Amino acid sequence: MNRIGVLTSGGDTPGMNAAIRAVVKAARVNHISVMGITKGYSGLIEGRVHEMHRVDVNDIVGDGGTILKTARSKEFVTEEGQQKALQVLDAFDIEGLVIIGGDGSYRGAKALWDKGFPTIGLPGTIDNDLAYTDYTIGFNTAVSGVVGEIRKIRDTMESHERIGVIEVMGNRCGDIALFSGIAGGAEHILVPEVPFDIDAICDDLVHDRIRGKLTSIIMISEGAGKGESLANYINAKTGLDVKAIVLGYIQRGGTPTSDDRILASRLGVRAVELLKEGTYGRVVGVRDNKVIDDDIAEALAMEHRFDQNLYNMIETLTNI
Ligand code: F6P
Repeated sequence: MNRIGVLTSGGDTPGMNAAIRAVVKAARVNHISVMGITKGYSGLIEGRVHEMHRVDVNDIVGDGGTILKTARSKEFVTEEGQQKALQVLDAFDIEGLVIIGGDGSYRGAKALWDKGFPTIGLPGTIDNDLAYTDYTIGFNTAVSGVVGEIRKIRDTMESHERIGVIEVMGNRCGDIALFSGIAGGAEHILVPEVPFDIDAICDDLVHDRIRGKLTSIIMISEGAGKGESLANYINAKTGLDVKAIVLGYIQRGGTPTSDDRILASRLGVRAVELLKEGTYGRVVGVRDNKVIDDDIAEALAMEHRFDQNLYNMIETLTNI
């Protein structure tokens, strides 16, 4: 393989730049040239392709966002869009493509591979919702950031003796809420994977108050409901002073943690090795701290996993 392409797709995530850097550096070491594709599959269809050199990726290992920009392309989902993309790849003599993104981006990678074009997927999403890998690039940074925000919000909630409802991202997966909630000492954590009883939470909050615990933090994953509606409901039912805080894009931006930089670097290097070896249609990830790769169709078909043991600890940890 003489020339590969790299693109980032879907929601940006801290560590995408570290992954791009690793791909470019590993390819150069292996005498493979790299074409950067700007703005994901949309840019691919539009031919937004440029050669990348080592100098382009200097000093980006710690930068948030993605220097290649990103998008969610509706056109690429269509047969016509995919044919246009294949024409562009052919026109630029690109023989293999590294796609950094989440579930939707992987479906695009699979579509190209189904048509015979070599692709490798790298898991770039803060949601940690790809079942085949223990962690996705950006998740660790998102959780660390949310933990910092919980600390700040708790200061204010405690000062005013309020209840704070913090809504975090994760439309199909509650991992950001679960991990940050455990690390931030949240009293209640609501995730899409586990049914919950809001009235029982209201009862708990009222009992807590009687026993002298005046402040609680409730984490809610966006896939489990809206923070604002939950806060309004609790306030109407209990009369407690409840504030909803939606963290939004604060979770996606910012400098990646060292864990995410290392993960992105390991996976980026492995992606290039696979292309060099001629192993295609794979997605790279990490299991038990070892870099692994799986068939893309099998990875996408894997059932969503949820750390029930971690979830079960909430009650013990919040017991007063
Ligand atoms: O998939 C990552 C993610 O951040 C989700 O948690 C969230 O639901 C979604 O992206 C938001 O996407 P957008 O930025 O396109 O609105």
